[in-house]
Amino acid sequence: AIERTLSIIKPDAVAKNVIGEIYSRFEKAGLKIIGAKMLHLSRTQAEGFYAEHKERPFFGDLVAFMTSGPVVVSVLEGENAVLAHRELMGATNPKEAAAGTIRADFASTIDENAVHGSDSPVSAEREVSYFFPGEEICPRTR
Ligand code: CMP
Repeated sequence: AIERTLSIIKPDAVAKNVIGEIYSRFEKAGLKIIGAKMLHLSRTQAEGFYAEHKERPFFGDLVAFMTSGPVVVSVLEGENAVLAHRELMGATNPKEAAAGTIRADFASTIDENAVHGSDSPVSAEREVSYFFPGEEICPRTR
């Protein structure tokens, strides 16, 4: 089925100047970018986005990192987009990420792991609407 998923290019990858290389991987995989913007997240925005991790020991570090510099948030659309995007990203821990994945190529630690992607269609719906009001999503007509 055609799905949508939320992508975040994290502050470490923006700082490495690889936004275009990451976008290129999405496009080559057939995912269409139908929403995109650069944001410097506030603490409140980052805490709300990652609310499900609130009780985890890494929550404070995660919020500090995600607010340390600009991010690029995007909505990707395509066949099986949630899983397709996760396969392009590779494992959460770059040390376990398969060769050729975004995290294997651009990240070195689990805390600064270059990208985030929705983990299911249900989280995708929540995450897309967290950052994108409907009028900021531009479905392709051709
Ligand atoms: P992300 O997909 O953005 O979702 C939560 C983030 O927390 C995750 O990527 C990692 O960057 C970070 N994180 C740090 N430690 C852990 C951990 N032990 N398990 C999962 N995520 C972690």
